[in-house]
Amino acid sequence: DVTLVKVVEESEAPMISKHIYGHFSEHLGRCIYGGLYVGEESVVPNTAGVRNDIIDALKELQIPNLRWPGGCFADTYHWKDGVGPKDERPTMVNRWWGGVTEDNSFGTHDFLNLCETLGAEPYLAANVGSSTVKEFTEYVEYVLHEGGSPMAEWRKENGREEPWNVKYWGVGNEMWGCGGNMTAEHYADVYRQYATFMTDWTNSDGLFRIASGANVDDYHWTEVLMRDVPKHLIEGVALHSYSFVEWNEKGSSIDYSEEQYFSTMKTALKMDTLVTKHSAIMDKYDPDNTIALVVDEWGGWYEVMEGTNPGFLYQQNTMRDAMIAGTTLNIFNNHAERVKMANLAQTVNVLQAVVLTEGEKMLLTPTYHVMKMYNVHQDAKLLPVEFNSPTYKFEGEELPAISVSASKNESGTVHVSLVNIDAHKKHNINLSLEGLGVKRLSGIILTSDNLQDYNSFETPGAIQPKEFSTIKVKKGIAEVELPPFSVLVLKG
Ligand code: AHR
Repeated sequence: DVTLVKVVEESEAPMISKHIYGHFSEHLGRCIYGGLYVGEESVVPNTAGVRNDIIDALKELQIPNLRWPGGCFADTYHWKDGVGPKDERPTMVNRWWGGVTEDNSFGTHDFLNLCETLGAEPYLAANVGSSTVKEFTEYVEYVLHEGGSPMAEWRKENGREEPWNVKYWGVGNEMWGCGGNMTAEHYADVYRQYATFMTDWTNSDGLFRIASGANVDDYHWTEVLMRDVPKHLIEGVALHSYSFVEWNEKGSSIDYSEEQYFSTMKTALKMDTLVTKHSAIMDKYDPDNTIALVVDEWGGWYEVMEGTNPGFLYQQNTMRDAMIAGTTLNIFNNHAERVKMANLAQTVNVLQAVVLTEGEKMLLTPTYHVMKMYNVHQDAKLLPVEFNSPTYKFEGEELPAISVSASKNESGTVHVSLVNIDAHKKHNINLSLEGLGVKRLSGIILTSDNLQDYNSFETPGAIQPKEFSTIKVKKGIAEVELPPFSVLVLKG
């Protein structure tokens, strides 16, 4: 069977914001401490305490933005504890994640300087749940005010003369849960209050204020925010949705059965429905599309590795994660009209990490490779795709077997990313690129026979993208053969 996938060009199609390829680093497990941040005294080569190998990997990935310090941690974080001389900073207990004591040695200066080093835009998720409007607005003033104000002068005393360029601000996190267990109605009021006092001291093109959004399919939450918050106070509404893996009867989720894979991909694909439905609510209140849907937490969430602190959410990133990443990013690209930002959870050693570390060693996960392959879509124009997917069947249920998105960049180069979700069948595709002026396609593929395959510290190169043989485009059609469990990005 051959599936026809038609890539079309529409003048009205949106640009794919590069911020869809954003990342997230929380004070959780070994993401910050014992992960990206080792401290200046460490034997691991570092720049201002941040591992050089991680800096290089994230630069190579061209990460457009980085969200910090949480997650749930954000609404327990008091930013003033993390500035000033490191040896004078108070300690704190990370109450959500493992109950460990942290010394606040990685704070706002460290994070914002890291973003400058990476060339990534910072996204500060600021505390609302256990903060005050005063603490919050002083944070904005500390980071953005040029000079002469109490907070700006304090920043200068702490070694930073110029304000940083922070556009993206989260107003709390998961306010329906760890952020304070609020109702949507109550949070909408709280949000209005906080947003009112956020001053853009930079007088640049304005702050981008992101309201804590819905948990998965809580459409009521989005409805209330869109209804109750006036447009001049909001630029983005968040959404969190993870591809959870159900635990098996032995009380473990370390299971690579097909049953579990199928249910994982079902949840990953559900992102399309979620984004469609949340966007439809937003369309109702914001037909001009001025407010973005920001999926600032997504990714696979399953096993905690044996022998690790369960509160550290350290999981083995395998080929299965690559399948989640490729599929989810295609969904975001195809919804570029409304989804202007997204953040993979998380960068280092937590959940669907792109980098894992162990002592002085580090490795790049299959997810890292997918994110890098998909970079080509950043700030490119979406090319809509039309096709009827063949199905991947399992025990009486079925899922679409193929996921696709495409774009055309400034220099006219076309990229098409394809995922074969099917666990058994290769799929033959006739890719129609008519009218796009493409004569031949080269490609990079990430694939493996087994979902459980991963890059270990002993064999860090086990799963690597490989060159895909060049394909000729005859009469506008390219014949592509996609093996099971594969992510392919074609260029032409
Ligand atoms: O990313 C881990 C956690 O997941 C975050 O802290 C929270 O926002 C979400 O529930």
